[in-house]
Amino acid sequence: MSDRQKTRARPNPRRAFAETYGEILSQGIARRSVLKGLLATAGSLAAGGLVLPRPALATTETTTLTFAELARVRDKDDHWPEGYTRQILLRWGDALFADSPAFDPLTLDGKAAERQFGYNNDFTHFLPLPMGSTSSDNGLMLISHEYATPFLMFPGLSDEDYRDKLSDNQIRALMASVGLSIVEVRKTGGQWAVVKDSAYNRRIHMSTEMAISGPAAGDDRLKTKADPTGKTVFGTISNCNGGITPWGTLLSGEEGSMDVFAGDYKSLPNQELVERQGWDEEDNDIYGAGRVEPRLRFEDEPNEWLRFDWVVEIDPLDPASKPVKRTALGRMTHEGAQCCVAPDGRVVVFMGDDDDFEYLYRFVTRDAWNPSDRAANRDLLDHGTLSVAKFGSDGSVEWLPLTAGEGPLTAEAGFKTQADVVLNTRAAADLMGATPMDAPEGFIVHPKTGKLYVAMTENEDRLPAGEGDQAEQVNAANPRGPNPHGHLLELVPPGSPDKPDFAAERFGWDVFILCGDPAKPEEGAMYHPATSANGWFTDPDNLSVDPAGRLWVATDGPPPQGIADALFVMDTEGPGRALPRLFYVAPIGSECCSPTFTPDGQTVFISIQHPGELRLADDEDATSIEDAGTLWPDFVAGMPARPSLIVLSRDDNRMVGS
Ligand code: FEO
Ligand code: CA
Ligand code: CA
Repeated sequence: MSDRQKTRARPNPRRAFAETYGEILSQGIARRSVLKGLLATAGSLAAGGLVLPRPALATTETTTLTFAELARVRDKDDHWPEGYTRQILLRWGDALFADSPAFDPLTLDGKAAERQFGYNNDFTHFLPLPMGSTSSDNGLMLISHEYATPFLMFPGLSDEDYRDKLSDNQIRALMASVGLSIVEVRKTGGQWAVVKDSAYNRRIHMSTEMAISGPAAGDDRLKTKADPTGKTVFGTISNCNGGITPWGTLLSGEEGSMDVFAGDYKSLPNQELVERQGWDEEDNDIYGAGRVEPRLRFEDEPNEWLRFDWVVEIDPLDPASKPVKRTALGRMTHEGAQCCVAPDGRVVVFMGDDDDFEYLYRFVTRDAWNPSDRAANRDLLDHGTLSVAKFGSDGSVEWLPLTAGEGPLTAEAGFKTQADVVLNTRAAADLMGATPMDAPEGFIVHPKTGKLYVAMTENEDRLPAGEGDQAEQVNAANPRGPNPHGHLLELVPPGSPDKPDFAAERFGWDVFILCGDPAKPEEGAMYHPATSANGWFTDPDNLSVDPAGRLWVATDGPPPQGIADALFVMDTEGPGRALPRLFYVAPIGSECCSPTFTPDGQTVFISIQHPGELRLADDEDATSIEDAGTLWPDFVAGMPARPSLIVLSRDDNRMVGS
């Protein structure tokens, strides 16, 4: 779900930021960098106004970025810097196999969609081939397809009538258009192309058989009529962002499965769990899937929904392999799963739970990974410790273990076994006193410094200090209430930059950027002081680091402030730290997702998700193909806009961004 859609449904307790900041300041809970910045500009802290807190002065000449920044733009097309070439590599419906049928939204059915590139590509990763090489002209694209919007896909439907009008064939096409694509790509003569006869090419969708492993596998709550073992499930849904393990498997986050289920969720036995999972009528039954698959109707199969919202592990190098839902990593609205390795070889996975007031999680494997025997790592993610982050105002963050029988996670509290914990991860984290965040999405490890960056997209419901429930009030790591613009935090594990201890119990942390318009003091934004009128942003979502070590921030859902969703890039260290530049602007209504680079840094692939989902005229949700804000990239009247994977490279073959 795009963040614009998610937020629209929620009330907006707007309040002046200056007032909020004053409250934070007076309570002494602002983070040290914010405080430092405020103190540095204390002379300007006049009545009613608050000048931006800013880091040490520096000049634009010192940034490592050299491309000419774009101007802010919000229109039907996409925009990239001069001296770069943009190629559309894969569109929704494009062939992935030699025998794929041609794309035709008028006749699309499940069988055709299973052979074509899916809809709404989100997570995107270039895995060089052969595995372990640094090849920059041949690799696998690992791509997730998050959700489908029927009335923007099939001509003749609107948001009002599509549920009644969808044919069973169209419903099956929707179910086959989400999930994941694995596809080999190769560059020849400067042009990228799909290798259609590659043995690696694969579509994963709602009919793909998967295993369930870890503490919840085989639990009675995961058993269904079709699967009395509780260890086998068909399909994956809402595949948002993800990550890559050190052994080259793909982790895909299932970010809320409610839209696939039909019926009255209030009939489910465990209402407390349903509510804590954040389900509501609005997101229920988007696809009409219950009409073609009884297991997706609550009344027919009350346990099926518990078999979704996990992290799925997929081996892209073995097209016959069965994907596995790894329940040890908890059940939530999984955004992604960033992997890194602790000094002792244990693998550490960082995860955000993308909803307002939800938490940051970490999973540390029990055993070290084996770099010389890929198969030995097959079940590594089934054993380990899941924990949740608690931020202190002293600049430290603690990782609190979510282990049945430890601390408040007692049998009396409902956590008798680890299955109880992972099936009700959010409630376990509540009991531990974790820090509620402003919709945590992107999470990236900087491979050179060992620091982690986390994007909180926004949270309009965050309350100022002293108002409402304490968990909803501002805290040190989420210092603005409301927070309609989002922010970026920097987490610093102990240890040296070349050997960070990602498994340590305690990290340091700091505010990296407070988003918003730096020209409006009331927004309380914080960037490098040289940030241009084009370089500031809101609604940060996916984060990437390029081979030169620069941080790329993709946005999801900015308000109509003269710019559509876009991609910004910045240094994280040195004089250009936190000085973003505008690199790419997507077509109206699109989310710009998951930039991924070839090892030589000369090519960036970007997923353009849900183009046209908003109307250009008034920024409201588009209700049909005719109403869509754009028909990008084909611009054929009456035919849908198509989510696509694009490629950007420099004409002089140097690293992108530099
Ligand atoms: Fe799929 Fe959290 O955005
Ligand atoms: Ca998002
Ligand atoms: Ca996202």
